[in-house]
Amino acid sequence: MPLHRRFGRFLLVARMVITIYCGYKVRQIHGRVTGGSRRRDFYDRQHHRAARHIRDTAVRLEGLIVKACQFIGSRADVLPPEFIEVLAEMQDRVPPKPFTLIRPWIENQLGRRLEEAFAEVEENSIAAASLAQVHRGRLHDGSVVAIKVQYPGIERVIATDLANFSFFVNLLARIERSFDFRILLEEVRTLIPLELDFENEAANARRFAANFAGVANVRFPTPIAELTCRTVMTMDYFEAIKITDLAGLERLGIDKHDVAALLTDTYIRQILVHGFFHGDPHPGNLLIQKGPDGPVLVILDLGMAKEFTPQLRLGLIRLTAAIIARDAVAIGAAFRDLGFKTRTGSDDTFVTLGELFLGQAIRSGKAYADMAMVDRINDELMAALRANPIVRASSDLLLVMRVMGLLSGLGKTLDSKVDPMAVMLPFLGLPAGP
Ligand SMILES: Nc1ncnc2c1ncn2[C@@H]1O[C@H](COP(=O)(O)OP(=O)(O)OP(=O)(O)O)[C@@H](O)[C@H]1O
Ligand SMILES: [Mg+2]
Repeated sequence: MPLHRRFGRFLLVARMVITIYCGYKVRQIHGRVTGGSRRRDFYDRQHHRAARHIRDTAVRLEGLIVKACQFIGSRADVLPPEFIEVLAEMQDRVPPKPFTLIRPWIENQLGRRLEEAFAEVEENSIAAASLAQVHRGRLHDGSVVAIKVQYPGIERVIATDLANFSFFVNLLARIERSFDFRILLEEVRTLIPLELDFENEAANARRFAANFAGVANVRFPTPIAELTCRTVMTMDYFEAIKITDLAGLERLGIDKHDVAALLTDTYIRQILVHGFFHGDPHPGNLLIQKGPDGPVLVILDLGMAKEFTPQLRLGLIRLTAAIIARDAVAIGAAFRDLGFKTRTGSDDTFVTLGELFLGQAIRSGKAYADMAMVDRINDELMAALRANPIVRASSDLLLVMRVMGLLSGLGKTLDSKVDPMAVMLPFLGLPAGP
């Protein structure tokens, strides 16, 4: 992408950030001048305006900003409802490309005429998200399929975003040493190209299905190899509803609390038992069907996944057990085993980190975070990092934290009653307690 287009993308993001920042500032001053009575109302409207501005910028720019919106729009636990309502659109309702563009692209990528590959392809897409849009179709044998088609040219847009992101992360790390996000950059750079390769996604789908073989209430798409390449993935179509469609769940007679429990169990199992987990459980990628014994969870969009070595998986189990037991020595040892190091070599920062990210959730007995938890994280973590900074961290835990954040948002939406301690203990090889 030429430099001026790359710069143009940056300017649009910068304009968005400045406009939103100023919008909140103006409201803050206005609120102070006019007194508190109408302040809430003002803020609600500003949230709406900010969310719409972010959405419009994302629709225009495409690429990584859509991914960022998906994450923000999934955090019903810590963000105002105005953000959730508007930004949730980016999970599966991004404006699609016209079929006149998509049809020749599928033919070109699969190397055969559409009529030859499919008996029918619906012209209107059923959904569209950050990298692809999905069309329902039928094979010549009559089976109904979902055809996931990567947007033509999206690879270049993403490469530009990665270059811009990399520039700023490196600049920030140089100017302000306590804001060093280079491990995040490294992780994003590793994971995003994998998501753009649908052969990789198809391989992941087969691997997840094998790991969950015999588990009737968790399903994954089965890719059709002859009709799948780097940019097109054909798979079985799922008649199902989105996990956050509370009215739909009620209509089907599915208890949302059962959905929350199944979801939590499925992801803990992937991380702590299989050591191979899906890193993108935002609501657009999770569907629910009605099974004979309660809900069935369908997990889609499996390009972003991570494998843990047995050593890493055991390290994480040890860390979780140490945090539950509030064993400071064991917490320090577990963090060090996972590749972390503090400047002084003492473990105080690790203990704070463990307590803030997992300990307080476990001890609160609540399935999702809230603003009070986030405030504690901000204040206490900053203080701990100032006193004894972490000089080496491992990028491996970032995707686990992303999963925890997304599940926390879903937990709030589903009004989860899951007790984090009770669901974790069996996976740690500890007795479940009295
Ligand atoms: N097999 C399927 N059956 C039914 N619907 C599907 C299927 N596959 C995808 N969809 C729908 O299409 C949407 C987009 O597909 P998918 O999530 O794979 O695209 P993506 O661009 O990679 O998404 P993301 O932005 O989350 O990375 C999904 O949110 C879902 O609504
Ligand atoms: Mg998706």
